[in-house]
Amino acid sequence: MSEDDRLNLTPEWRRHPKSWGHSFHPMCSYMAMFPARIPHYFIQKFTRRGDVALDPFCGRGTTPLQACAEGRVGIGVDLNPLAWLLTAAKVDAPDKDDLLFRVEDLQTDMFYGDIENEPPEIRMLFHDYTLSQLSYLKGALDRNDPRDRFLLATLTGILHGATAKDGRSSHFLSISMPNTFSMSPNYIRTYVEEHELRKVKTDVFDTLRWKIERLYRHGRPEIRGYAHLAGAQHLGDIPNRHLKRKEVKLVVSSPPYLKVVRYGLYNWIRLWLLGEDPERLDQTLDQHPKLDDYLLFMHRVCQQLYRVMLPGGVCALVIGDVKTPRDTIALNLAEAVWKFLKRRKTRFELAGIIEDELAENTKVTKIWGADKRGRATLVDRVLVLAKGPVEVVREHVTW
Ligand SMILES: C[S@@+](CC[C@H](N)C(=O)[O-])C[C@H]1O[C@@H](n2cnc3c(N)ncnc32)[C@H](O)[C@@H]1O
Repeated sequence: MSEDDRLNLTPEWRRHPKSWGHSFHPMCSYMAMFPARIPHYFIQKFTRRGDVALDPFCGRGTTPLQACAEGRVGIGVDLNPLAWLLTAAKVDAPDKDDLLFRVEDLQTDMFYGDIENEPPEIRMLFHDYTLSQLSYLKGALDRNDPRDRFLLATLTGILHGATAKDGRSSHFLSISMPNTFSMSPNYIRTYVEEHELRKVKTDVFDTLRWKIERLYRHGRPEIRGYAHLAGAQHLGDIPNRHLKRKEVKLVVSSPPYLKVVRYGLYNWIRLWLLGEDPERLDQTLDQHPKLDDYLLFMHRVCQQLYRVMLPGGVCALVIGDVKTPRDTIALNLAEAVWKFLKRRKTRFELAGIIEDELAENTKVTKIWGADKRGRATLVDRVLVLAKGPVEVVREHVTW
């Protein structure tokens, strides 16, 4: 029996709906996020309570949150400040009552600030009343405080989205627009004029309370985890005792691939709230458009991962196929990464590559037009690597 057969790696996660998972997951949508059912599959199969699970490209924090919710120690690393904020808020969440008291205090202390200084592309999105509340919160929230961090992260999720059909009730703060990503200011300007969109006076504090109630449906995760704003290729420099002691039992991650998503540009509204520069962010993030550079990057990251893992640890990397405009068939990038690692004499062993066909309408990159650039594909693969012989645990925990 091969290792592949013994581990029985199959996309068993499909028996859960895509929205399955802890109620904190939908705090804010994140481009190229994976569903919580994928980390859950690996967490229950290969770890026990108290084990450490890492995602070095954590995005909205899907792996670390799901790990903490299932009694494991979740660690998330990402170079994007939005990703850090979302992950930190979820894995170190405040008590709900404390959070609601903080909302009340902030509302009591609220002063209607001067919104004239906000950029015109932001002013066209929000009613003046809503924007003055947002501007006040932007200045008042301290992201070193877990309660404020949670509020700021929650705000990023409700900042923009579609208005309900009746035009009145909305749980988003902006004019009607997509929630997943920010369209360009020029596009929005024309769209608003053509469709005569109205800015709706929405109360930020009431909307925050509504969202907090929904997020806390499953309570707080039982274990506190960690979030680090850092590069995946520099794990050795991160001040985290579990990483220093090389205690990672499981990695579940989806690395960026071949510059498919521009996290800065497509999040310019959320980044305004965080006081971050979208262009600078896109320059900081490692997205290698050339295959050779990408493979070298992945090799460096995998070396770092091997170093921080326990013997018997498993590393699952979700890597979709990609198609460049010149190609007729898509490149199996997961296999290309594995072949490159092998040529470079990686000490990881291949446990298997799981294929996961995606339904056409579920691919985020399709919605925002990556298809036009010929890069969206309908197959994700999970490259599963092992650090020596692996034990299948199957310790299922629900919260
Ligand atoms: C495909 S997304 C991960 C999405 C995540 N699985 C989720 O469910 O939200 C890839 C992430 O890699 C991050 N990233 C890009 N270059 C990085 C680097 N050198 N180190 C750490 N993170 C990086 C991006 O900011 C992005 O959040």
